[in-house]
Amino acid sequence: MYSILSGTEVSKAILFKAKNDLAKFDKKPKLVIVYVGNDPASEVYVGMKIKKAQEIGMDAELKKLPDNTNQEDLLTLVNALNKDSSVTGFIVQLPLPKHIDTAKIIGAIDPAKDVDGFTPTNIGKLFLGISEESILLSATPAGVIKMLEHYKVDFKGKHAVVVGRSNIVGKPVASMLLNRNATVTICHSGTKNLADHTKTADILIVAVGKPKLITADLVKKGAYVIDVGTSKVNDKLYGDVDFENVIKKAHCSPVPKGVGPMTVAMLLSNVVKAKMHQNPSSI
Ligand code: GUN
Repeated sequence: MYSILSGTEVSKAILFKAKNDLAKFDKKPKLVIVYVGNDPASEVYVGMKIKKAQEIGMDAELKKLPDNTNQEDLLTLVNALNKDSSVTGFIVQLPLPKHIDTAKIIGAIDPAKDVDGFTPTNIGKLFLGISEESILLSATPAGVIKMLEHYKVDFKGKHAVVVGRSNIVGKPVASMLLNRNATVTICHSGTKNLADHTKTADILIVAVGKPKLITADLVKKGAYVIDVGTSKVNDKLYGDVDFENVIKKAHCSPVPKGVGPMTVAMLLSNVVKAKMHQNPSSI
């Protein structure tokens, strides 16, 4: 009765389009992923990004740096990638080791190559409501929106509640929802009576990282629930939503096979988009 919002399914169409677009370029776009340290979750994400890029015929290179890489060396690499004309776009996988100033590194990325959509320029343009077509959007929030659009969710006038206010999900997804004329509430760790907000949500997006935070009693019947959270407990992956019970009263994305594949697909679409923006006559 209620739909499982399948990122695996929706991402297939996006990857299919990216693959078709790639075939039209004389010179293939190239993605570089910079990964510093040895965070186990990042290891998995980075592996998936490289694998999917190669599967659709994109050039993809992983630059893996040791945990003790210093900030200067990382900045030097970012600047070199900015200048390297063979690189269409690149990302710096987060989190970075604690001794590195993340904002400084992200701020050094050329916005035209910022295929994660994390730079102040791209985030700022999103916040200003500048045409989303003209900017590189953060992959995970863009994936959330694409997924809802695929399931024909109408945003206008709907109450969208975002739980979590991170720079990489909560804040940008709230901007995208505003751009679509939803009425947006952002909840966070300082919010009192979370349930009072979530129970009124027509669209509920949760990106916190607390297993099963959102139980069925916190969800309105028939709502669309997108679970962005991932936590590993005893080697098992959990989302922020109690999927087994929530799916009995609302449409819901699972973890895994929900937002994860969408993030990868949107990242690769952004590489194609970056190439088109950099060289509109190349396609
Ligand atoms: N860490 C968690 N999600 C992401 C993402 O989408 N991009 C990067 N660079 N790091 C992340």
